[in-house]
Amino acid sequence: MKLLTSAPRGTQDILPKNSYKWRFIENIMLDQAAKFQFKEIRTPVFEHTELFLRSVGEETDVVQKEMYTFLDKGNRSITLRPEGTAGAIRAMLEHNLHNESLPVRLSYVDSCYRYEKPQSGRWREFSQFGCEMVGSSEPLADAEVISLAHSIFKRLNLNNISVEINSIGCPKCRAEYYKSLKNYFKDNKENLCDTCLSRLEKNPMRIIDCKNPDCSKIAENAPNILDFLCSECREHFQKVKEYLTSANIDFIVNPKIVRGLDYYTKTVFEFVSTNENSKGLVCGGGGRYDNLIEQLGEVSLPALGFGLGIDRILLAMEKQNTIIPAPETCDVYFAPLDEKAKALAFNLSNILRDSSFIVECDSLNRKLKSQMKYANKINAKFVIVIGEEEIQNKKAKVKDMADSSEHTISLDDNFLKEFFEIYTEIEKNKLLKNF
Ligand code: HAM
Repeated sequence: MKLLTSAPRGTQDILPKNSYKWRFIENIMLDQAAKFQFKEIRTPVFEHTELFLRSVGEETDVVQKEMYTFLDKGNRSITLRPEGTAGAIRAMLEHNLHNESLPVRLSYVDSCYRYEKPQSGRWREFSQFGCEMVGSSEPLADAEVISLAHSIFKRLNLNNISVEINSIGCPKCRAEYYKSLKNYFKDNKENLCDTCLSRLEKNPMRIIDCKNPDCSKIAENAPNILDFLCSECREHFQKVKEYLTSANIDFIVNPKIVRGLDYYTKTVFEFVSTNENSKGLVCGGGGRYDNLIEQLGEVSLPALGFGLGIDRILLAMEKQNTIIPAPETCDVYFAPLDEKAKALAFNLSNILRDSSFIVECDSLNRKLKSQMKYANKINAKFVIVIGEEEIQNKKAKVKDMADSSEHTISLDDNFLKEFFEIYTEIEKNKLLKNF
């Protein structure tokens, strides 16, 4: 079939045969976050560009190469959100949520946009589940946020996710670290990419995060941030590790984690798949960002959070064959055979729907044979055929599609009561059979 156009590169249509998987994952994420008292926030898909320049950081790949930025008809620079933190914090400040009570705990499911080179698990439009916790500088908060993400993986039955943590210190300890990094990279300058050369003076830590293989190779032997932590950051990190250990959360300290966004301080972490079919896939990450809020709203508040890539999590679940419960199929399919029957079937469908049954009624005027074929195709549990005779007798048959048995039902005020009786009897027998 010749189409006018197709979905833009790096985007995907999530079709009904898959959308329930997304709904399942999102529901678990939001529900688990609610158990930790995180409440859902919804923010705009686009924001003023300066929000991301300020928060994500001008030296990052996201800002330098990946943002979808354009002028709107009012000549304002607008950007499709590349991540969820900045918008959530902007909204918190704008609506003074931090003045109501602390800590503020926010969760969200956001579609995000990054102009990256698409590949398996890397999209230009992708979905992020995130949590942000504002107001606590305690290491316990770091452990709690990591344990929330960890518990989500557990509830999703996504095994083989390693928790990798690091501390990238505060501006105080980073000054010394930057000096040492600059010296190291200057000695290896000739092999750095142009972007990294421009980062050398302003933000040398970004070089550690560069995707260019030459830069990554040089970064392998770069000085280790953990050797430069000030006593406060060292103690903080130590405490986080102790809390995680006491909660039986296995983790690896990986000093190479610096994260791709500029707002982080102290604890940073990533959740990486170790399953052999999706090895190395970064399913999520986050950390503390104690200095970000001040830059956006002139109020100083410690904060931290994480973002999970839903697309990647689903990919990892599929690679390890995790079973996602299929959605309920149609309970009842009505097959009306003439005009009068159509009106009655229409009303009875709504009566059953009001009692929570999933019901479909023919809408294509098909012959009985093709209606039955269709009912089979959609896996309907029961079929009720209504024709002239059924209307005259005020009785019809409920056909159980599993064994073709038929059960008489009244087409009058007793319909719902009798349907319940038939339904519960059949379900009970099924259960007894499987017992
Ligand atoms: P991030 O590491 O840039 O952090 O993104 C979080 C997760 O989103 C990644 O670990 C990955 O699973 C997923 N992701 C990122 N880019 C793509 C892509 N192009 N295609 C598919 N999935 C992708 C953040 O965005 C921070 N806002 C997280 C955070 C929240 N930190 C503190 N609070």
